[in-house]
Amino acid sequence: MQYEEIKEKIKFIVENPIKEFKPDALKGIIDRYYKNHPKSQKAFERARKIIPGGVEHNLAFNHPFPLESKRVWDCYMETVDDVILTDFLMCGGPIILGHQYKPLIEKVIEVITEIGPAHGITHEYEYLAAEQLQKHFPSCETIRWLQSGTEADMLAIRIARVFTGRKHVIKIGGSYHGWSDQLVYDMHVPGTKLLESHGMPKPIYKFIDSVPPNDIEALREMFKEKRKVAAVLVEPMGGESGANPVRPGFNKEIEELCHENGALMISDEVVCAFRLHMGGGQAYYDYKPDISVFGKIVGHGFPSAAAIGGRADVMSVCAAGVSGGKKAYSGGTLAANPLTCTAAYYAMKFVEETNATEKATHAANRLSKGFNEVFEKHNLPWFSYNFGGTVHFHTSCVFGLDLGDPIQSGQIPVRKDFMGEMGAALVDQEIISVAGSRFYTCIQHTDEIVDKTIQKIDNICAMVK
Ligand SMILES: Cc1ncc(COP(=O)(O)O)c(C=O)c1O
Repeated sequence: MQYEEIKEKIKFIVENPIKEFKPDALKGIIDRYYKNHPKSQKAFERARKIIPGGVEHNLAFNHPFPLESKRVWDCYMETVDDVILTDFLMCGGPIILGHQYKPLIEKVIEVITEIGPAHGITHEYEYLAAEQLQKHFPSCETIRWLQSGTEADMLAIRIARVFTGRKHVIKIGGSYHGWSDQLVYDMHVPGTKLLESHGMPKPIYKFIDSVPPNDIEALREMFKEKRKVAAVLVEPMGGESGANPVRPGFNKEIEELCHENGALMISDEVVCAFRLHMGGGQAYYDYKPDISVFGKIVGHGFPSAAAIGGRADVMSVCAAGVSGGKKAYSGGTLAANPLTCTAAYYAMKFVEETNATEKATHAANRLSKGFNEVFEKHNLPWFSYNFGGTVHFHTSCVFGLDLGDPIQSGQIPVRKDFMGEMGAALVDQEIISVAGSRFYTCIQHTDEIVDKTIQKIDNICAMVK
């Protein structure tokens, strides 16, 4: 689906009342959820006593309560209630070979048992993994390992400020770059600005700004207004992994604008690397950032995996050690540990050898096409599109709300609630997705599994008013 068509469809959905489930059907979905997941419900009650809110991560939210997982394999997740879900959550994106991919697990076990998971000094896997990453991301002349995407984005803006000697950082409204103090600014829904910025004194935001998605003129104006821009930070597919899709050419325009003005471009490849293209968003959309940020996907879901790479002169300001000059300070005791770097090295090798990106894209193309056929059959305005192995499933389009419109701006809660109900409807059909609105594919999602999933979406659509 082309950009213009996507924008038209989002506009139609946000300008009209949301489609809702028939009351009886919704009652059935929720009743079955309680009936089929009693152990998860109990687990949640227990968790709430020891963990604030009972869940640690937005991904784990499910309506009416979170599910407890027992195990995962291939493209499946089994819950503590022995319900087997077809998994399109894929741990939030990093799993593209499938869960428990045996050759990868074997290599990691070998390291844990024979080499040791963490040494505190350097190890060969650190260089092997960095070389492997650089092979696919030639813009990354040097690379540093970190432990989360949040950290890597945080360091990226610090490096840009030290290197350029400037302070302003601009993000694209609605984008997600982790939860560090400054980058929660204008997150999820474009225009929400300080909505999520509790616990951070306002002066922290003095040097962070955002522009509306895909608006190069607004960005140009901001460059004029704030002459000392250190960097512009992008999610290559558009905000929240392409839920607000990028306009073709926008990333390249940003690169040019940054370089005309002495600023750096930071490409956040946390979701795009390997999942969109082996060379990430920058290869897919053909632009050359100064700094690239990597997260969970480099370690294929193994913990403590993230990296930052870029031009050697830029990256030199984050060199470790106590040598002179102004440094962008960074640390992390467990960064670059052999376990993570082994996982990263072999995950990248296996993704390449198995053509995982192409296979996940094939599954995503088929899934998205099938969803659209079902929506059309049921005469629903809902729609789907995919960027590589990331499928968007737009029903209430909360990310597309125009906060300048007084009617739409009040609709965040109701449209979010509908996404919760959709999540429950998907679980009712034994499917788990990201927040009822995004499906990540992997090489284990065969045509047969995809076609069964499309059939289940057909069942869900039959329950809508
Ligand atoms: C584009 C993007 N950047 C950064 C992050 C933060 O990564 P982490 O959760 O590893 O801190 C995420 C997480 O989903 C992301 O999608």
